[in-house]
Amino acid sequence: MAIPQSLAPSSSSAAREARPMLRRASPSRVAATGAGATGEPARRLVAAFDPAIPLASAVTPPSGWYTDPEFLRLELDRVFLRGWQAVGHIGQVKNPNDFFTGRLGNVEFVICLDANGKLRAFHNVCRHHASLLACGSGQKTCFQCPYHGWTYGLDGNLLKATRISGIKNFNKNDFGLVPIKVAIWGPFVLARFDDFSEDTVDDVVEDEWLGSASELLSRNGIDTSLHHLCRREYIIQCNWKVFCDNYLDGGYHVPYAHGALASGLQLQSYETLTYERVSVQRCGSAPAEQEDIDRLGTKATYAFVYPNFMINRYGPWMDTNLAVPLDATRCKVVFDYFLDESLLVFILLSVHTYIQHVCSCIVSQQHNMISIGTLLW
Ligand code: FES
Repeated sequence: MAIPQSLAPSSSSAAREARPMLRRASPSRVAATGAGATGEPARRLVAAFDPAIPLASAVTPPSGWYTDPEFLRLELDRVFLRGWQAVGHIGQVKNPNDFFTGRLGNVEFVICLDANGKLRAFHNVCRHHASLLACGSGQKTCFQCPYHGWTYGLDGNLLKATRISGIKNFNKNDFGLVPIKVAIWGPFVLARFDDFSEDTVDDVVEDEWLGSASELLSRNGIDTSLHHLCRREYIIQCNWKVFCDNYLDGGYHVPYAHGALASGLQLQSYETLTYERVSVQRCGSAPAEQEDIDRLGTKATYAFVYPNFMINRYGPWMDTNLAVPLDATRCKVVFDYFLDESLLVFILLSVHTYIQHVCSCIVSQQHNMISIGTLLW
């Protein structure tokens, strides 16, 4: 097995020259790879838009906002890699050693719950030659790099660097995984890619992520008692903002795109409440529907959290939509569905009863077949 050139013990001066790959990377260097430099054309696109224009005179942003890769780079740099971002839900890191991975722009990240129950997040990049470290989600007691086997604890410490003996001035403590700030609000896991301090105070997160809308969202039942049912992911051939624009058009498309839904709403009552980083949409339901359909009317909360996270809370249900940019003209939308625990028991019982019914039908069918077989024989 070849020893990586950067690590090969050697007495030759040429080999010594070849080693500086073990330079210690500062967190800011790693984070900067998420966006890269953005060019003048993207900045010109922004400058051409005047946010001070009164709403009645506003026009759609230039098409370059939705198609230009440079513009997306600028958004990653200025929007996504600054401030808190929703990256998952607490059901993904429920037990010690649970982990999940993700990607935002060029930043690969891994979130895990260490053996002591502490939530942690790291750049998912090996400190040797930058291989991707973990894939997907699941349970691990350590992260072993698939390239040359360096092994890290779930606390990010480098536990083992393979065949490293003989390398001078190598200190394992200098090569732990680069941390990312992580926090929880309600059932959501949040990450912050522009802040490298380890500890986070929860009420600071609440204020920084949701501002003055946090109280309203808590009051409307966006909490941890809901059970995560399932996840669906869709790749959509459009810029990530197209999905968000559709969500935020204040019901403009509803009468035409969702005729059946529109018939259950009092669209003239549609209102949008705006906060610093959140907007909440509400609409009264038609009188005949008021008691029946939890998804409609003032009983439902549709909240958009800047820049790309949507929370829909209605009756015993909640679903969330996360629009993740993949490139300028494609995004991945992640739908997570949650249900009130009490209803979950009801559904499980119904499923159990249904399965019992199906099983008894199968058994009786088999019995009939055996009886017929006996008669024939
Ligand atoms: S890239 Fe070499 S051990 Fe990870």
